[in-house]
Amino acid sequence: MKKILRIIAIIILAASIYSLVPVLWLYVSKDPAPYTNKQAVEKLKDNKGDYFEFIVFGDNHSGLIFDDSATLKIVRSINREDRFRKIPIDLAIIAGDVSFRGSRWDYRTYNKIKSMIKMPVISAMGNHDDDKDDGTLFKKYAGEKEFAFANRNCYFIVIDNISGNMTEEQFAKLEEELTVSSFYTHRFIIMHKSPLSPYFQSWYRPELNPWSYRFMKLCEKYKVDIVFAGHEHMFMEKKLGGVRYIVTGGGGILQNIPDSDGGFLHYTAVRVYGDYIDYEVRKIFPPVWEYFTFYMWKDALYFFKNALS
Ligand SMILES: [Fe+2]
Repeated sequence: MKKILRIIAIIILAASIYSLVPVLWLYVSKDPAPYTNKQAVEKLKDNKGDYFEFIVFGDNHSGLIFDDSATLKIVRSINREDRFRKIPIDLAIIAGDVSFRGSRWDYRTYNKIKSMIKMPVISAMGNHDDDKDDGTLFKKYAGEKEFAFANRNCYFIVIDNISGNMTEEQFAKLEEELTVSSFYTHRFIIMHKSPLSPYFQSWYRPELNPWSYRFMKLCEKYKVDIVFAGHEHMFMEKKLGGVRYIVTGGGGILQNIPDSDGGFLHYTAVRVYGDYIDYEVRKIFPPVWEYFTFYMWKDALYFFKNALS
């Protein structure tokens, strides 16, 4: 019996060390040249047809080994999305918190990971992305914070709402962009903080702020298809007023919400097929070392909490 346990321990240890290799390799790899959101959009301009996919995730929080190791697993899966060459995967979108705490190291790591994603990457700003400066590093590594662009039959609007609010100027600009978007079949908005928390967490109630209702009414009026956000480290979606609100904050950061409630590593793959759209959540199992140092204990904790309550 002792021998079997020892063999199991050795296998777990070996698998854990092996699962750490990609992230260690990432840290010693060279810094690639960064590209901005504008340059990413440039790469989309020759896309034709109305059948394609795009990827969305949030809160990779690059710069912390737990997050980076998990994001690398997610990136590997994203890069395999088109392995059968059936559908073009045009772009990937990050719904903010691209860096752990906005340091130079965090951004360098984010940039390395971003360069590993096969398709052009668009990044929205998150509330931790200017923790260490006034947004200079975000500008260097990702570029513009607010912009809109078209790809095929879709229009995408990226908004900076890290303050947890939107100004009058932002509302005016948004309505302008939504007017332009009505010439397209589909409209998507990307922002870090969702106008409502689908998980009803007591620490985060954006719907109590007046911008939320006003924003949602605009989305309803202009028939926005999906609003993507991060901030809450989980997956959850709600449909209100004909608009789908998706929180997809499982791009790498440790997921401390119960797995059964959406607290798992993931990304969202969205398929556009003419005037149809749908999406699928791709759940990613954590790297082995991370499972045994965090996720296993998280699941055990919730198990006992639920069993004893
Ligand atoms: Fe976050």
